[in-house]
Amino acid sequence: MPRKLAAGNWKMNGLRASLIELKHLEDKHGDADVDILICPPATLIGACEDTPFDIGGQDCHMGESGAHTGDLSAEMLADAGASYVLTGHSERRTDHHETDEMIAAKSQASYDAGLIAVICIGETLAEREAETTLAVIDRQLAGSVPDGADHENTVIAYEPVWAIGTGKVPTTAQIAEVHAHIRSRLTARFADGAHMRILYGGSVKGSNAAEIFSVANVDGALVGGASLKAADFSPIITALE
Ligand code: G3P
Repeated sequence: MPRKLAAGNWKMNGLRASLIELKHLEDKHGDADVDILICPPATLIGACEDTPFDIGGQDCHMGESGAHTGDLSAEMLADAGASYVLTGHSERRTDHHETDEMIAAKSQASYDAGLIAVICIGETLAEREAETTLAVIDRQLAGSVPDGADHENTVIAYEPVWAIGTGKVPTTAQIAEVHAHIRSRLTARFADGAHMRILYGGSVKGSNAAEIFSVANVDGALVGGASLKAADFSPIITALE
């Protein structure tokens, strides 16, 4: 079975001075028996070359290098030292109007550059209240995950939009229902779908991590705010180990 994965998404946070947090994390988890991924802002990827942790981008362009001012290709991220990239984060879907089709193209570009794509999906509060969560998950999985996905090049991150940065966390029953549903869709579509990692993301903290990790089909977490400081991220990693 693939190793569990604790992933930190620093979002638009982090200056060179912030890299001291990786040193602190290394002191405690430098030889962890789970995978640890840090997705700093792209400006810091090159400066992370000495860390023992995997490094990821937070987004990539869907095409090859070319005339796209301000964008970064998957190949550039790999060249800078990344081995993963987030695609389809809800903040990208909302702020940059990214569609499932664009996210599939970005994920394919990631594969082509040798990166592992962490493809993010999840419903809004309005969609949950309208009881369309599983339909949204189906649409996003079908539209955002390329046919060439497998357990080595793809991680799925379930992040209910209403739980991101809000302190609100779904019940374990709600997480279990969605993760089981994602697993069933992955196994139906991909030969190795049983082995693809599925992360939960949204207000994960040291205080709730163990309960979330006890849920079936939760293979780790994608953590935002609590990944910025080693003191906050460390207990989450410990709960996964
Ligand atoms: O990608 C991780 C993220 O969206 C969750 O953020 O701050 O709720 O852990 P946060």
